[in-house]
Amino acid sequence: MAHHKLSVIDFFEMKDQGRKVTWLTAYDFPTAQFAQAAGLDMLLVGDSLGMCVYGYHSTVPVTMEQCLLHCQAVRRGAPETFVVGDMPFMSYQASDEQAVLSAGRFLKEADMDAVKLEGGVRVVSRIRAITDTGINVIGHIGLTPQSSGQLGGHKAQGRTAETARLVVADALAVEEAGAVMLLVEAVPPEVTKYIAEKLTIPVYSIGAGLYCDGQLLIVSDLIGQFQAFTPKFVKQYCNVAEMITKAMSDYCDEVRAGEFPQDRHCYHMIQGEEEKFLELMSSEI
Ligand code: KIV
Repeated sequence: MAHHKLSVIDFFEMKDQGRKVTWLTAYDFPTAQFAQAAGLDMLLVGDSLGMCVYGYHSTVPVTMEQCLLHCQAVRRGAPETFVVGDMPFMSYQASDEQAVLSAGRFLKEADMDAVKLEGGVRVVSRIRAITDTGINVIGHIGLTPQSSGQLGGHKAQGRTAETARLVVADALAVEEAGAVMLLVEAVPPEVTKYIAEKLTIPVYSIGAGLYCDGQLLIVSDLIGQFQAFTPKFVKQYCNVAEMITKAMSDYCDEVRAGEFPQDRHCYHMIQGEEEKFLELMSSEI
């Protein structure tokens, strides 16, 4: 499919026109190729790669170096897609200066179109500092996995009037600080609808309902690859875990039964060379 790389201006226009944005995580070259061929509007190289690719229990151990390597692979696979680099834990928490330097690496070393960081009111100065250097920032509020310890686990946020008010305050703060888009995670649709209508920047949902400007899912959930747990908001569109396990077990069965490889899987010697080879070998004995 021919692809036109979208810009921030396109995403604002899509919001105005009520056209939904499709957004998915990707961590590697082939998945990025599939996503671009499928016509995804945007990709996120999420720090969820810690759990989906490396098998960590959370996103906390993920490093800048890991994120950058995966961003580079995704960029190579999807050169015509808007790709967002996710800032890992402790790459921006220490100071505005640290945040700017880390964000800059995503552009200089991995050719990202934007960076995403978690938090609302409490990261306002970070968002402003990065934005002031000319880098597109995407805010991420609601359930913020890097601080899930403080939130009491991977729990939906804003389910009471008082906590919903705090989520809205975070959304307003992110826009005010200069972010170009906002991602809302695991928040009731009633609250996200209010935010999407209130904000001028595009507001996207992961587990935050239909009433916003687009949707994000984790690719490993969508294709049925991630096994540890499945959040309520996930829709699994296929089950590659089953497909891959079956393919591997069929392979084992065929090797053990002497059915693989067959003649068509072999590189035979060039015609006439086998006789010469056997002659050579017999003269060497
Ligand atoms: O790392 C990631 O994939 C994310 C999503 C959970 C939004 O931040």
